[in-house]
Amino acid sequence: MTAAFDFAPLLAADLPPPAAKWTGLAKFSFIGGNNDPEQVPLDGLIGAMSAVLGREGKNLATYNLAHGPQGYLPLREFLCAKLKRDAGIKATSDDLMIVSGSLQALDLVNHTLLSRGDTVIVEQETYQGSLNRLTRLGVKAVGVPLDGDGMRMDALAAALADLRSRGIRPKYIYTIPTVQNPTGSIMPEAHRLEMLKLSQEYGVPIFEDDCYADLIWDRKRPPAIYAMAKNGGVIHIGSFSKSIAPALRVGFIVAPWEMMSRMLALKTDAGSGALEQMVLAEYCSPHFATHVPKLTKGLRAKLDTLMEALNEQFGTSAEFEAPKGGIFLWVKLPDNVDTLKLYQAALAAGVAINPGPEWSTNKAHSGCRLRLCFASPSATQIREGVAVLADVCRKEFGVPVRIANVERASRA
Ligand SMILES: Cc1ncc(COP(=O)(O)O)c(C=O)c1O
Repeated sequence: MTAAFDFAPLLAADLPPPAAKWTGLAKFSFIGGNNDPEQVPLDGLIGAMSAVLGREGKNLATYNLAHGPQGYLPLREFLCAKLKRDAGIKATSDDLMIVSGSLQALDLVNHTLLSRGDTVIVEQETYQGSLNRLTRLGVKAVGVPLDGDGMRMDALAAALADLRSRGIRPKYIYTIPTVQNPTGSIMPEAHRLEMLKLSQEYGVPIFEDDCYADLIWDRKRPPAIYAMAKNGGVIHIGSFSKSIAPALRVGFIVAPWEMMSRMLALKTDAGSGALEQMVLAEYCSPHFATHVPKLTKGLRAKLDTLMEALNEQFGTSAEFEAPKGGIFLWVKLPDNVDTLKLYQAALAAGVAINPGPEWSTNKAHSGCRLRLCFASPSATQIREGVAVLADVCRKEFGVPVRIANVERASRA
């Protein structure tokens, strides 16, 4: 038998550890930023695909559909109108680049600004994908604590002053201000103004990740930080992953040309998927405004189901604030619960959860916390999955002691 070729001695230095093989989704999956399969607007997407291909399909013969490296023009124009209406952003199609999901936006911003050894400021609880990227780049992430209004401005001011006193100028302040991941808060306008003042005072740009901004229950949002900036020191990114479907892999960046021209030089993939961009533009122009309220109504109902199930199964052992939108609930369990261990035990029982420490720069604070995505499981899966999770948690950590409604009934 011929020996298998050995790649090991040839591997590049500084590679991340090898990936594990995909073994499928858990029976009860509360992980990731997946959306509700029942809410993908399939008929509309099929109609849009057929219309746009019939009309412009021959353009697929040309890289970037001959619309240039910033992406399909009708999609950029749709986004400019939408961002103006919803977020107060005045941008032209030249200020906007379509990318392969906002993950590519994170990479492009990071590779434009960051070198090993740099420091950035992030929300203490934040998106794991952002934290992992920073770790991989050898960049120090300073976490600023949150409250019900998002990143705390007093703590941000203190962090900036402390870094300055040590001669460190952070490369950016990364924030998810509109439906924060994982906590679900919305930063009020006054705090956004304060952040801009601090950004100006310390010469640190703001990196605004707004990918959940369409999914707000009452549809009320403050203007984007990008829209409020007077000096152009903000980079804004967004995505269709949460409003339409994550597998499409379409996101965008709005940035001043000084940054845009640098990021364009780094985007060497000859353009993001053209078919997805064409279908989205065709679908979204007439339908986005009616699709999103239907989507959020369904998501809100699932959140209610999740909160009810947690109250029923965990009682007072599970503490949480209802998020103002989005697809996640951030939950605190009693201090003795280690959610990294709970994650392993729950997975063995078919329930996938996101353990808090993976979403935080403060491992002690987040050790008993977890994030649950309520968008992708069905209402039945939510109820059954939470019951299994409570069972596993009780076996592993002795909490919840008893099912809460039984306890409450006996007290009443
Ligand atoms: C805050 C945040 N930013 C970016 C992303 C990446 O999204 P996508 O690449 O699908 O646009 C996610 C995904 O969950 C997210 O939560």
